Amino acid sequence: MPKRPSDATPSPVSGLLAHSRAPLPDEPTPLLGNRTPRQFMRRYWQKKPLLIRQAIPDIAAPLSREALFELADLDDVESRLITHFRNTWNLEHGPFAPDELPSSKKREWTLLVQGVNLHDDRAHALMNRFRFIPDARLDDLMISYATDGGGVGPHFDSYDVFLLQVHGKRRWRFGAQRDLSLKPGLPLKVLQHFEPAEEWVLEPGDMLYLPPHIAHDGIAEGECMTASIGFRAPSAHELTAQFLYHLAERMGDASDGPKGNARYRDPAQEPVSSPAALPPLLIDRVGAILANINWNEKDIAAFLGTYLSEPKANVVFDPPERVLNEQKFVERAKKTGVRLDRKTILLYDARSFFVNGEAEVLLSKMKKWLPELADTRCLQAKRFVTLTDESSMTALLHEWYCAGWLRIGALP
Ligand code: SIN
Ligand code: CO
Repeated sequence: MPKRPSDATPSPVSGLLAHSRAPLPDEPTPLLGNRTPRQFMRRYWQKKPLLIRQAIPDIAAPLSREALFELADLDDVESRLITHFRNTWNLEHGPFAPDELPSSKKREWTLLVQGVNLHDDRAHALMNRFRFIPDARLDDLMISYATDGGGVGPHFDSYDVFLLQVHGKRRWRFGAQRDLSLKPGLPLKVLQHFEPAEEWVLEPGDMLYLPPHIAHDGIAEGECMTASIGFRAPSAHELTAQFLYHLAERMGDASDGPKGNARYRDPAQEPVSSPAALPPLLIDRVGAILANINWNEKDIAAFLGTYLSEPKANVVFDPPERVLNEQKFVERAKKTGVRLDRKTILLYDARSFFVNGEAEVLLSKMKKWLPELADTRCLQAKRFVTLTDESSMTALLHEWYCAGWLRIGALP
């Protein structure tokens, strides 16, 4: 397995990353065309597209073409290769060894690498600039590399996305057309009819925000790279299925008492002469069991916290190579502070916190530091020192450190 690009070299841009924080709600920012996040959310978010010239001036691609290709070669990284050779769309899923990718001199192909934020500090820092939107909505940062003429065809997405040009140029055409029917029989979603209303060429640092269901097509003008900061919006179907699953799991818990373990019984069943007929008694009794399902706002919050903090199926945490015992961990963290690993998702509400799919009670002694760790993704050394009176708190953080969920040291 090739070495991970981001682990191979320490980041030479630590100073730069430290400045790349999200704007405050009422702070005008070049990222949003000198609008405040509040103005952006009110006028554009989920409503209409916005082109922002020089959202991030002097931007450099978070990682080189070679480093992106190396990521696409890893088993735990989701990547896709889309080619449009001889006017035919083709889609392949990674991993891709370097010699499985077409030559960079060949026109009209693109490599899409999902979740680059999970593997690269600079990509993670870039994504964090968008944390004026709740983490519960933030999905990932994808990077696409395309050769001249490359793209994924005219299509629409069901998610909000910021398309940030990080290298070279891309021509975007887009519009809010009604007809979103797709060409049949293709391996990817390509619109049957595409009638763009606007057309812009984006240069490095320029960004296009698109709400869901806007038809769009981005075609590389020469070799280019685009970062897509995407947001998740589960469907009502997915939420319902997952919530019912969560409730069923809870019913199976000993804490839910005998209710969940009660089994269907039919002591009043009469003998039958039509054995294949569904017994009305069965429908009645099962109806009574289902009518017993109840939930409140606490269950909804517990479901959302665990569901939305669950790492994607391909995420693998890397525990430290040489694990420090708790005492040494505390000594080091008192000097340098701690930070969440790039892959960790930590959410909280007034009652609980949710870390990588696990729900725990937010004890009152945690309220002093856990929300801060979740919101800033780090605890500075002097803040960590204040925790060290409570051995249960340092024990918890040591556990996260051993699992690779938390790292010693400041944010890069
Ligand atoms: C791309 O970056 O090539 C495609 C992004 C998109 O259109 O969703
Ligand atoms: Co798209």
